[in-house]
Amino acid sequence: MKDLKTIRGMPDLYDEEVERISIVEKTCLETFKSFNFQEFRTPIIENKSLFQRSVGESSDIIQKEVYEFEDRNAELLCLRPEGTAGLVRALITNGLMNDEIKKFFYLGPMFRYERPQKGRKRQFFQAGAELIGEESTKSDVEIISLAKTILEKLEIKYSLEINYLGKDESLNSYRAYLRKYLQKFKDDFEDKVYSRLQRNPLRAIDSKDVKIKKIFEDAKDISAFLTNDEKESFDKTINSLKELKIKFEINKKLVRGLDYYTGTVFEFTVDGLGSQNAVIGGGRYDNLIKELGGRDLPAIGFALGIDRLAEIIEIKDKTKDLFIGSISDDSINFAQYIGNKLRQDINGLVVENYLGNANVAKQLKKANSQGFKFVMIVGQEEQKTNSFKLKNLIDGSEKTLNEIELVEFLNGR
Ligand code: HAM
Repeated sequence: MKDLKTIRGMPDLYDEEVERISIVEKTCLETFKSFNFQEFRTPIIENKSLFQRSVGESSDIIQKEVYEFEDRNAELLCLRPEGTAGLVRALITNGLMNDEIKKFFYLGPMFRYERPQKGRKRQFFQAGAELIGEESTKSDVEIISLAKTILEKLEIKYSLEINYLGKDESLNSYRAYLRKYLQKFKDDFEDKVYSRLQRNPLRAIDSKDVKIKKIFEDAKDISAFLTNDEKESFDKTINSLKELKIKFEINKKLVRGLDYYTGTVFEFTVDGLGSQNAVIGGGRYDNLIKELGGRDLPAIGFALGIDRLAEIIEIKDKTKDLFIGSISDDSINFAQYIGNKLRQDINGLVVENYLGNANVAKQLKKANSQGFKFVMIVGQEEQKTNSFKLKNLIDGSEKTLNEIELVEFLNGR
């Protein structure tokens, strides 16, 4: 049927691809919990105005990437392009605004109408963590440690770049400086491009466009505009990272694409992904909660691109545990009874109860080709004698075991 197609940039996920995604998600989940972060789930749909007020009117996301629509009540809604704004909105609307430090994480799909390419989709999955209520550089270090622990658990080599955007006044004077600097090059750009650069001059700093890059080569970077306190804060973060032996590079051109950042910003990149090599991005957003109508609480967080990491991890153990075949349909109930008992008694054991009609020789072949480590075929004889012949498909060895021995043996598999 012609109109039954997947939407561009929103692929179906199955087989190994989904397995890879699950591995990344599981690692994120375990690591978030090990840092005592609590899960938060917010809706996939929010008011578009939430992102206009947070991610920023002049950001690429709002300018051209939001999936927006009016609902039946003519409210302008959108599919969430990121998770931070929704979480902050939820903290405000649920009154979760006391002085305690709060540590939340989320996992889920995000949507951006970008040009699809390797590592860039229109529906993609993020895992994010947000630490709210702590202003000091201790929280910068905690969040960066959390991010790098996930990458290390996934055994992925990374580079970490870090920068410090000023808060309020310094950031505003830097923007003003860049706008002025740009004026000298007005005639080099089409009006549309020039006004986009004027609207969001910070973005121009880390532009990939060769011409823009060249023009900004001689521009001052943000560090020239930072106050002494801000410089000190950045130094403190840097020194703590060194003490914790976390390798990083300072990239004074790193500004990130969302408008809510203040202070520390960082990005983790990896090899093997081509141009879309950023796997984690984050930073401080000390003004956002207040600007959205909440209390004046500082915060820092990051989000990780699950799809991107899924592409480059190595799947280690692909073997599944046990294939239970049956001699005929008469023994299938007993085979299912044994399968259920083993699953119940042994945590995490993967058991396939064969449900088809193939003969025993074909069942053995299937067990092999489907990557099972052990196989046993169950019939009336096994039921009567309570004795099972378990074959190891990797080394070819065989063992005859009763039900209790079978549980013991597979437990230590
Ligand atoms: P972001 O840098 O826009 O930050 O996205 C974070 C990560 O999501 C990126 O580094 C990338 O791995 C992944 N990602 C983004 N767009 C796509 C896409 N189209 N396809 C595949 N993966 C993608 C944020 O979203 C902020 N909310 C992070 C944050 C949290 N800052 C503070 N707290």
